Amino acid sequence: MLNKKVIMSSLLIALFSMAGIANAGIKLIKTTDGTEFTIPSSGLKGTPAEAEFLKTGKNIYVGDAEAEKRGGKRFGFWSCTQCHGPTAKGQVGPGLVGPTFKYPKDITNQGMFETIWYGTNGGMGGKGFGVMAPDDGLTADELLKIIAWVRTQGSQGVTGNEDDQMKKFLKN
Ligand code: HEC
Repeated sequence: MLNKKVIMSSLLIALFSMAGIANAGIKLIKTTDGTEFTIPSSGLKGTPAEAEFLKTGKNIYVGDAEAEKRGGKRFGFWSCTQCHGPTAKGQVGPGLVGPTFKYPKDITNQGMFETIWYGTNGGMGGKGFGVMAPDDGLTADELLKIIAWVRTQGSQGVTGNEDDQMKKFLKN
């Protein structure tokens, strides 16, 4: 009898924690129209950085010199340089180093990710995998590296991972 009860409650606990895992994670919101979006599996490489991002919205590549360097190269490869300049301080497009942004949530890594993945209504097309063409675009891992590099170009010490900023701008 007692054993059955113990088994039942452990089963229940297991079920609840599984539900917890399923519900955990961030909601990605388009900068264009405020609706939710998800990243297609073809846009994911399965890296720990992607997993952490999808769970908490944090970018673990910030402060990782090797990842930042790769992100800087990808910034050129994806032509971000043409509009935002080689040091991301602005050219045809606006500067990206802050501390203020046209889309204020871009001070957070999740917010900037959302803006770049789906683009804006004011002149920037989405760059995320599958947004412009079904088989082309940035993977989430690449975009996290690009954002990490962009953060290195500012002089205000913004990392994009600050909890207070995330609370202020993101509704997860
Ligand atoms: C063809 C030019 C062009 C290219 C290429 C381009 N952008 Fe932009 N980007 C813009 C313009 C124009 C805006 C301003 C959009 C607006 O006001 O809505 C912008 C806005 C942004 C913003 C929002 C800035 C803010 O103040 O909130 C971010 C972040 C950004 N771009 C990142 C990137 C990254 C990263 C790439 C490369 C993957 C890229 N852009 C490629 C033109 C471009």
